[in-house]
Amino acid sequence: MPFDHNDHYHRLLLRSLPPGGGTALDIGCGTGRFARRLAERGYQVDALDPSAEVIAEAEAAGGGPRFRRADVTAEELPAGHYDAVTCLASLHHMPFGTVTRLRDALAPGGTLLVLGCHAGMTAWDVVASPANAVARVAVHAGERLRGAYTPPLKAPVRQPDMTLPQIRTEAARLLPGSRVRQLLFWRYLLTYRKPAEPAEPAERT
Ligand SMILES: C[S@@+](CC[C@H](N)C(=O)[O-])C[C@H]1O[C@@H](n2cnc3c(N)ncnc32)[C@H](O)[C@@H]1O
Repeated sequence: MPFDHNDHYHRLLLRSLPPGGGTALDIGCGTGRFARRLAERGYQVDALDPSAEVIAEAEAAGGGPRFRRADVTAEELPAGHYDAVTCLASLHHMPFGTVTRLRDALAPGGTLLVLGCHAGMTAWDVVASPANAVARVAVHAGERLRGAYTPPLKAPVRQPDMTLPQIRTEAARLLPGSRVRQLLFWRYLLTYRKPAEPAEPAERT
């Protein structure tokens, strides 16, 4: 059914970025749906994914981002370059410590957003399952009413193995000042803002 837990959070992610655009890097971009939304917002977007299949589909859809087949754990990222780095439902495909590579690619004052998937049960799962069922039925019915539904190409998926408490501990260790907020549908949002460079001291006369 066409309800996508990650796409559901696109608006929240866009609201979490400062207005005004700039440069953005989307990691594990899949077929590029969020990268295109960043481009619509005025960002110049680089988008990476190691899957040849999804990159081909992303390039065919176009929409502005520069899509590239690459593994972020092996790729040299430009240091201090991006105003926004985003990583949706992809961090659990790689070692959690990859967040330090993403942090290093941020320009001073830049924002890192990780929409992550976590393992283990939390109190929210009590409401997540029924909410999930209702959302899937509602979206499916809407698609049916609008006409034929073509299932999108699915990006590679993997089960997460870190629990939310483990993620919070590692985020606090590797990205001091970051915030991890639990979301519905087995997701969390990690937000990190890189400190702006201190102003140059005024020249003495
Ligand atoms: C569940 S999909 C999410 C795709 C997309 N972000 C979305 O929200 O629909 C996870 C993506 O992470 C990508 N991925 C896995 N390992 C990666 C790595 N080392 N570097 C960059 N992307 C990776 C996969 O190829 C896959 O497209």
